Amino acid sequence: MKKIVVLISGRGSNFVAIQESALREDWEHSIGAKIVAVISNRPDAKGLELAKNYGIDALCVDHKAFDTREAFEEKLYEVVSQYEPDLIVLAGFMRILTAGFVDRLEGKILNIHPALLPSFKGLDTHQRAIDAGVRMAGTTVHFVTAALDGGAIIAQAAVPVLPSDDAHRLADRVLVYEHQIYARAVKACVTGKVRYENERAVMDDQTALELTLFGQI
Ligand code: GRF
Repeated sequence: MKKIVVLISGRGSNFVAIQESALREDWEHSIGAKIVAVISNRPDAKGLELAKNYGIDALCVDHKAFDTREAFEEKLYEVVSQYEPDLIVLAGFMRILTAGFVDRLEGKILNIHPALLPSFKGLDTHQRAIDAGVRMAGTTVHFVTAALDGGAIIAQAAVPVLPSDDAHRLADRVLVYEHQIYARAVKACVTGKVRYENERAVMDDQTALELTLFGQI
């Protein structure tokens, strides 16, 4: 069985979207994969409750309990490693992970970013997209490296920016597509349709098409 560990910081809607796909498509039997744990760096993350409701291990490694980022990452690494994960999925996980964590797991960590990378790395992406006047916003799933929001791109969804948008409306529109591409990208990675080779995301044309969405709503 391929084991997936999900890291969150908040409401966990991307986690739920992946878990719902896993249940709907019976990943345990169809592709031999399951989410085995959800770990939050914040004790009050709503996603932890949601994980418990699915019967999934829900743990917190509270970053505030550690004096340094290194000490936090060391503990996080220890807790994550106990599950011997094949894939680690950052889903609204709002801590920067340094090379000390990431280099040991390179090619095994995915992140979703609410912008069309390499545009709008970092925070506050929707307001920055509106301020820049772009017509297309979107979301990106990528492999995680020590470069912030900089690893190889796996999947993207392009979503229009409307004149009446504020950051919240745009975020809501993009989120619908986050949920779709993240579940697809996780599945493509655990089944080996997407591989991490020489710092690139390697896949065939059909897989690339399945991982590219154009949203209208
Ligand atoms: C998502 O928009 C994600 O792209 C961003 O934070 C949000 C997390 O939402 N990094 P959720 O916790 O998955 O609901």
